[in-house]
Amino acid sequence: MRHLLSIADLDAQAASTLLDTADRLEQTLLGRQVRKLPTLRGRTVVTVFYENSTRTRVSFEIAGKWMSADVINVSIGGSSVGKGESLRDTALTLAAAGADCVVVRHPASGAAHRLAQWLAHTGVAVVNAGDGTHEHPTQALLDAQTLRQRLGDIAGRRIAVVGDVLHSRVARSNVLLLTLLGAQVVLVAPPTLLPSGVGSWPVEVSHDLDAVLGGVDAVMMLRVQAERMHGGFFPSAREYAVDYGLNRRRLDLLPEHAPVLHPGPMLRGMEISSAVADSGRALVTEQVRNGVHLRMAVLYHLLAGEEVE
Ligand code: CP
Repeated sequence: MRHLLSIADLDAQAASTLLDTADRLEQTLLGRQVRKLPTLRGRTVVTVFYENSTRTRVSFEIAGKWMSADVINVSIGGSSVGKGESLRDTALTLAAAGADCVVVRHPASGAAHRLAQWLAHTGVAVVNAGDGTHEHPTQALLDAQTLRQRLGDIAGRRIAVVGDVLHSRVARSNVLLLTLLGAQVVLVAPPTLLPSGVGSWPVEVSHDLDAVLGGVDAVMMLRVQAERMHGGFFPSAREYAVDYGLNRRRLDLLPEHAPVLHPGPMLRGMEISSAVADSGRALVTEQVRNGVHLRMAVLYHLLAGEEVE
């Protein structure tokens, strides 16, 4: 694995290897007072986020530090991006300065792929930490790890992905990964928040959340991405909460074994109620914790010379 840009670059074996490595790293660190492995000593990871982030940026930083890498976070506000420097020149600068891996988040779909092309001659690894509405591969991998820990094998499971699919890179990566691992995916969304090409996706589509919930093994709620809705929000926030919000009544429709996932940040009261988010059925903090081990696994396979097979 040279880069991690898209789930589409992985086959089922490679994805499972990453999940297995993440589980192994978690077991290795479990109960340790000092969570520090020497694995990436002398390697340098640079994170450069052109969009806001809490979970992804922090967990990549912790992941690198727990494997003894030097981790540098470029603050876009304080960088030469503010003077008009292009993404290409920024990437080449980071490579020339000694980065071994660049973790990038960008509002433009395809930005991580372009960055990997520009850095092809340098040997620097690129990780896509979210590009526009395109993909967020490490989020899908940590979601799969969380589901696997709770449900066992993902193959044959039926998973509902609910909400603003249109603007969600998390949904796109999850559809690719869950189907790669043998799950059935049902997308539940208002017609206005589905992509026009969804008919060619390997999924079922429904607009009726109540009808779907009783027949799934897990439900993944999506954040409503108001920042990408330049033409306004339809349905209204109130209509959305009534028709697609996961509340206490709807939680009771889910089979007892079925957990609730949300990538965060959560808009409480809109896509998920506090009663659900704070219940024992929600795995939101497990997802964040797994995100550190999963990102350790990604950095390990990219930088420690261990092939993903
Ligand atoms: N899930 C996710 O990507 O969260 P952040 O935007 O906080 O990184």
